[in-house]
Amino acid sequence: MAQQPSSITKKLEAKVAVVTGGASGIGEATARLFANHGAKVVIADIQDEKGRTVAESIGSKNCSYVRCDVADEEQVQRMIDSTIQTYGQLDVMFSNAGVFSKSNQLVIDLDFSELDQLFAINVRGMTACVKHAAKAMVERGVKGSIVCTASIAATTAGEVSTDYYMSKHAVLGLMRCASKQLGPHGIRVNAVSPFVVATPLACNYFHMDVEELEKIHQPQTSLKEAILKVDHVADAALFLASDDSTFITGHNLVVDGGCTV
Ligand SMILES: NC(=O)c1ccc[n+]([C@@H]2O[C@H](COP(=O)([O-])OP(=O)(O)OC[C@H]3O[C@@H](n4cnc5c(N)ncnc54)[C@H](O)[C@@H]3O)[C@@H](O)[C@H]2O)c1
Repeated sequence: MAQQPSSITKKLEAKVAVVTGGASGIGEATARLFANHGAKVVIADIQDEKGRTVAESIGSKNCSYVRCDVADEEQVQRMIDSTIQTYGQLDVMFSNAGVFSKSNQLVIDLDFSELDQLFAINVRGMTACVKHAAKAMVERGVKGSIVCTASIAATTAGEVSTDYYMSKHAVLGLMRCASKQLGPHGIRVNAVSPFVVATPLACNYFHMDVEELEKIHQPQTSLKEAILKVDHVADAALFLASDDSTFITGHNLVVDGGCTV
């Protein structure tokens, strides 16, 4: 069982956090870590059963599930409004929900309807979450922290999955603009960029189980025998969400074991 941090080391005591895509993978691990660090956490996702199960296992005092398709701006606004109604404030937005390419998506035979569907979530959805979280923070004078999940795909080129790589480059553009514009309000905006981590998203795309996926990707890092786990990414998100990073904004925190260096 994960060790509970003591009250002295709790980094998000009395904070309210939204985690999009919190029903699974990186979002789930981060929702758990945020709650362990004293935050009230709202999991916003479209997988109702999984989302509710995760929220229940964290505990109804500290966590709740809200259905929210981030591709729909109205749903995002309603989710932020309901968070404030339930918990009184919003301090942290972990905008993390995302999907991977459905097919190879080579430039030469790119399917634009697939690109539109992916952009609706990874770019428009990410932007709606940043927009409405920022609005709520500015209106209430909250010096909050917004963290976006990008990827190593945000700074590298893909041999396939053009739409995914493009979408993650856009996340960095959004994060950088938002950090400039929201800095004067005391709001920090950063990104976390993981290497391949064995979540349902990655395992489904590569058609591999967790063990296989980790075995294939580990040698691409420069860290001996180190394997990227969702908890490593959650640690980075916690750092950016908490007062441990009060002077850091507009930053892309790469969590890749030296893979892209
Ligand atoms: N797993 C990796 O290798 C990897 C690497 C780099 C970046 N990422 C990014 O990490 C983020 C989380 O992915 P993950 O690997 O944990 O995958 P995951 O599939 O385990 O979790 C993603 C979650 O997002 C939710 N989601 C998808 N579309 C949504 C929508 N329209 N509205 C609300 N929620 C939605 C899913 O239901 C799911 O619960 C994504 O943005 C992904 O691009 C993943």
